[in-house]
Amino acid sequence: SMAMALDRHLVLIGPMASGKSTVGQLFAARHGLQFVDSDKKIVAKHGSIPSIFSAQGERGFREIEAREVAALLTAAGDPCVISLGGGAILDTGTQQLLANCRVVFLDADLETVLPRIRRDTGRPLLAGDAAARWTEMAERRRPTYLKLADLVLTTRNKSQAELVEELSTLL
Ligand code: S3P
Repeated sequence: SMAMALDRHLVLIGPMASGKSTVGQLFAARHGLQFVDSDKKIVAKHGSIPSIFSAQGERGFREIEAREVAALLTAAGDPCVISLGGGAILDTGTQQLLANCRVVFLDADLETVLPRIRRDTGRPLLAGDAAARWTEMAERRRPTYLKLADLVLTTRNKSQAELVEELSTLL
């Protein structure tokens, strides 16, 4: 379809496995926009997320993440579609940069993410009881996601294609 012009970056936020990367990628492809995933940038430069966590802890990961996200959000160039790791919004500098973006919160429930997070080895913060860890983090961060969001998309009973459709309509 026709290319969409964005006036600001379109940034997807939300808890782990909510579909930020997939929905962002599909949306960007459909509208002829560039797509960038913050976790992918981090992994390309610093190695896998589990290896960063084991070598530098969550604190080290957050420092790297804040730096990479700031670089993405302030880079010269056309506005694009960006997906952030679930915890990127914890950083106050990132929160300030998001004020100049169009922020979409993928408001996921456990049922949506459960098939994606069981047996997941790529997300160190879900080690142990993944469902319980996910729920605790999603609930704790939800007020921050809501505060930063210009648009909230609930994921319950929707395919990722349907979410792309809904986002295209609402934008
Ligand atoms: C994290 C989410 C992950 C990744 C890291 C920490 C979090 O990204 O950045 O494992 O704290 O929520 P996804 O949201 O893509 O799973």
